[in-house]
Amino acid sequence: MTPSLHHDVDPKATRLAADFPILQHPTSRGKRLVYLDSAATSQKPQAVIDALVEYYTRYNANIHRGVYEIAARATDAFEGARAKVAAFVNAEAPELIWTRNTTEAINLVAYSWAANNLGPGDAILTTELEHHSDLVPWQLVAENTGAQLRFIPVDERGLLVLDDLDRLLEGCKLVATSHVSNTLGTIVPLDVIIPGAHAAGALVLVDGAQGAPHLPVDVKALDVDFYAFSGHKMLGPTGIGALYGKRALLEAMPPFLAGGDMIRKVEYEKTTFNELPWKFEAGTSNIADAIGFGAAVDYLRDVGMDWVRAHERRLCTYALERLSAFEPRGLAIYGPRDPDLISGAISFNFADIHAHDLASILDIEGICVRAGHHCTMPLMNKMGWVATARASFYIYNTEADVDALADGLEKAAAVFKL
Ligand SMILES: Cc1ncc(COP(=O)(O)O)c(C=O)c1O
Repeated sequence: MTPSLHHDVDPKATRLAADFPILQHPTSRGKRLVYLDSAATSQKPQAVIDALVEYYTRYNANIHRGVYEIAARATDAFEGARAKVAAFVNAEAPELIWTRNTTEAINLVAYSWAANNLGPGDAILTTELEHHSDLVPWQLVAENTGAQLRFIPVDERGLLVLDDLDRLLEGCKLVATSHVSNTLGTIVPLDVIIPGAHAAGALVLVDGAQGAPHLPVDVKALDVDFYAFSGHKMLGPTGIGALYGKRALLEAMPPFLAGGDMIRKVEYEKTTFNELPWKFEAGTSNIADAIGFGAAVDYLRDVGMDWVRAHERRLCTYALERLSAFEPRGLAIYGPRDPDLISGAISFNFADIHAHDLASILDIEGICVRAGHHCTMPLMNKMGWVATARASFYIYNTEADVDALADGLEKAAAVFKL
């Protein structure tokens, strides 16, 4: 067993970990749970769980219509959560549409904006890093409208190559890019892409599924047109996400789904739609989980997003150091090696151990890592990887978790005689 190289644990992360009930329970094999899969979904603090229980046990009622006390309380909590999540990314409440997740938020823009504004001769520019959720909707839009789909290339280090950006932007009406790559952790240089896209007359949608949980986000400072994110990756419940959109754009867009709550007046022949943000929220909303999302951003605001970024940068630095010690035995680390360029996720393979076998050996030790294509099959194909193992970090991870990963890799090395 290699000795731990680092003992300088920030006591704040250890304190925060105590707020997450799941981390207090050993695995069925009696191991400490070492959760290194927050890029897939984050764990939930007691405060978020309490907010859900409080709603269901004290004021469960449908919103916007009831006049009785608990209905009014549910409406206030639901709309209060919207205001909190909007403020978290520096948006106004009417600019924040609830969706099920990032994927639905991107599809809302694809079907409501892109399908109605693009045609033959137009182009959509995305990147070779994208998660399927920020690729497949644009493939469908391109197919249905005749628009062309283009890609900003990624180099062998996992960084976007922006040399040809001006040429790629010619005739482009929409740029859709992730904020952070879920597979490689690469932080996308939005400060270059957004002004470049605007100068070329294109709107910009950012897939913030891995951005909002890990980096301070200010949609106004970014001047981004649409920003999509998921509650479950940032301490909130599953089933709730959000789309930020500039108000003038949202005002001009037709509804995405139709039915109750998104209407102002309905006659047999025609309907006048509700104002923002409800125009895009058909049917009974996910009330409990929106309230839970509000509790999650309260928690993150108290922790401080600058601390979150600094903590993850420190953990990535340490993880890169510990993982690189295995390189002589065949461990390959993918993605940028500079902790300033990545956020919270590191992909790797260990010699010729299949990533799934590696993940299974780590699981025996209580260590949760993801193995596979991470919903980025085109990126994996381009890089020539069948699968990778991915360790991803969040606020409750500590250097001790990285040490556990390194110890687990030693076990794998012993099993495979590396
Ligand atoms: C970069 C990125 N985009 C989009 C998504 C899709 O998120 P959701 O499944 O919450 O819609 C993910 C989820 O892993 C992601 O990492």
